Amino acid sequence: MTRKILVLPGDGIGPEITAEASRILAACQANGLDIEIEQGLVGGAAYDEHGEPLPAVTLDKAKAADAILLGAVGGPKWDKLEDLAKRPEKGLLGLRKNLGLFANLRPAITYPQLASASSLKPELVAGLDIMIVRELTGGIYFGQPRGIEVRDGQRVGFNTYIYSESEIERIGRVAFELAQKRGKRLCSVDKANVLEVTILWREVMERLAPEYPDVELSHMYVDNAAMQLVRAPKQFDVMVTGNMFGDILSDAAAMLTGSIGMLPSASLNESGQGMYEPCHGSAPDIAGKGIANPLATILSVAMMLRYSLGEPEFAGRIEAAVGKVLDDGLRTADIASEGTRTVSTREMGDAVLAAFEAA
Ligand code: NAD
Ligand code: IPM
Ligand code: MN
Repeated sequence: MTRKILVLPGDGIGPEITAEASRILAACQANGLDIEIEQGLVGGAAYDEHGEPLPAVTLDKAKAADAILLGAVGGPKWDKLEDLAKRPEKGLLGLRKNLGLFANLRPAITYPQLASASSLKPELVAGLDIMIVRELTGGIYFGQPRGIEVRDGQRVGFNTYIYSESEIERIGRVAFELAQKRGKRLCSVDKANVLEVTILWREVMERLAPEYPDVELSHMYVDNAAMQLVRAPKQFDVMVTGNMFGDILSDAAAMLTGSIGMLPSASLNESGQGMYEPCHGSAPDIAGKGIANPLATILSVAMMLRYSLGEPEFAGRIEAAVGKVLDDGLRTADIASEGTRTVSTREMGDAVLAAFEAA
């Protein structure tokens, strides 16, 4: 059966990095993968064309797709839009919410070749393999009420940090199941010393634990977790946390791998449909220069093949091709170090493609 893939390049470096990832997808297709690839608009690009960051036509295509590949959204051009609902980021959040993509998997893996590219000492990060499981459709990102209003003669801004037991339970189960398939250690990150919502979070995680007796569950406050991630990151196997803490911790974890340009992600719903995107943003500071690292996006394609399309062999081939290119000393500027060859986004894409074809 032909599977439908929707590619949403978005803004900033989005089109540059998804172009390289799309070439890899096309190479899989040429090698026998039965897929159909379509493109769509989201974020600022969609706002410019349709006046909406998530036009109905894009949402319809997304719903009909088996998997979505997204570049990044946002940029200074749209930051001044008064109506928050029109901001590019709302396009991304709308996709996540409308498709029910509650489980965000962000693997932070340090390729041995990149241990010296990290800002931490190589011995701290060499061999690192953490899976951050971030709840993606709830928490403070979506809680009501929210807004900015005048109270007692001045403006106040407010958001609501809320999770129901069932939301906590379903992300907890995803994390426990992943831990079972990996190192069997799960660290749940919360702020249960202050916030009621995370007292409940901790209780639900504890309640689930007996169903996964082979997994060792621990808890950590988010401030300590941020510190531990840069002190001794290899202590972690799977981490599970809410939407906002997961957003922040995964950017910190990205640096352990050498660059935020190395961190892919999968966002899954209950029926296995997924959206795949790098963890980084649209990088306005380097957009249009042809120097962005496309590897997080290319590795997101590998995650798509594994999690949504059931094609682990193609996924493995892509990951091996990335390893080969790094072995050969090719680096985009963000991961360059002494003795490596700095290449452009396109040259990196070319090299991964060649290694994929040669495998
Ligand atoms: P960012 O991730 O875009 O950039 C942070 C820094 O990392 C920049 O210096 C950038 O050049 C660098 N960087 C990011 N990706 C890179 C890559 N592939 N190769 C090399 N360097 C890379 O974060 P920001 O600057 O805080 O946000 C910029 C815009 O992106 C904002 O509008 C924000 O809302 C949006 N954003 C979107 C997403 C998404 O679409 N998933 C994620 C984060 C931020
Ligand atoms: C991410 C981004 C998004 C988030 C923004 C752009 C809405 O930072 O995917 O990590 O906060 O989830
Ligand atoms: Mn983020």
